[in-house]
Amino acid sequence: MSPLSITRILPADATAAALRADVAQGLTRTPKQLPPKWFYDARGSELFEEITRLPEYYPTRAEREILLTRAGHIAAATGAHTLIELGSGSSDKTRHLIAALTELRTYLPVDVSESALTAAGEGLLADHPDLTVQALVADFLQEMTLPPSPGPRLLAFLGGTIGNLLPEERSAFLRSVHGLLSPGDALLLGCDLVKEEATLVAAYDDAQGVTAAFNKNVLQVINRELGGDFDPADFDHVALWNAEHEWIEMRLRARQDLTVKIPGVDLAVSFAAGEEVRTEVSSKFREDGMRAELAASGMELSQWWTDSAERFALSLSVRV
Ligand code: SAH
Ligand code: AVI
Repeated sequence: MSPLSITRILPADATAAALRADVAQGLTRTPKQLPPKWFYDARGSELFEEITRLPEYYPTRAEREILLTRAGHIAAATGAHTLIELGSGSSDKTRHLIAALTELRTYLPVDVSESALTAAGEGLLADHPDLTVQALVADFLQEMTLPPSPGPRLLAFLGGTIGNLLPEERSAFLRSVHGLLSPGDALLLGCDLVKEEATLVAAYDDAQGVTAAFNKNVLQVINRELGGDFDPADFDHVALWNAEHEWIEMRLRARQDLTVKIPGVDLAVSFAAGEEVRTEVSSKFREDGMRAELAASGMELSQWWTDSAERFALSLSVRV
């Protein structure tokens, strides 16, 4: 069995500096906001996995259905020798793809969560002992250099994580994906679709409160890493549909006037009762819009598959 290689592209002190900058900027602006990548420490990654099993959270099941139906087509169309996956998390659905990609030699999962990469990589190697797994701890919104790998390459970005990028981040990200690929390589992109508001809001505000715990986990990350004294019980989880932008917003709303000390950034942050911090957007897409965004980044959409209930789409594009 080849050993699992885990490389930190960003050294730990760069990650700490990035958290300090995001917290200092995000909590001193109006309205307050934090980037969603800070949800995913070991606990946050576990909570996300719990979310994927919730009855209200349909995206994971819908995307799995499409992958199970289309993996053979994806394998035949790409003949990929290398699979790069950004925001790979548990790599759970990716296993359907790996099983179908008969020419696959190298898997390069990229994630900010080292705990998720380790668990996923070890599990995969146990089942695919001949696969080379080179995991990278990196921020896919920063410039990335990947290790050399045999082509043709397939780059997967699953789960609808593209929706967690703001529109300007999304276009820069798609351009950087273009830069990571060679002409003829492919992009497999999962995106959640616009649908009725009640279904969307329920998916982000589940009855068991797992999404609320996931949302509040960012406060625990700030407490642990920056010595903050947030009490998560002082905040309510909010999920709402923004019809203008066609995205779900997750927010944390202060239950009363309060001040939080965050020594790691030398700040005392005041919240008025009812004041909110936006912690995530989750954009929902339409086929025409996605085709146009891909084309603007040098990718030509060749397949657009939805699940049987038309809730989620998986697209396959060729890097021009
Ligand atoms: N692809 C998996 C996991 C989705 S959860 C699935 O479909 O189920 C989103 C994943 O992206 C998490 O594992 C999180 O750690 C990772 N992530 C979020 N922002 C990131 C960033 N800026 N750079 C790298 N990974 C990121
Ligand atoms: C990872 N990402 C696609 C999830 C989503 O649906 O936007 C994160 C999430 N946030 C709340 N629930 C799940």
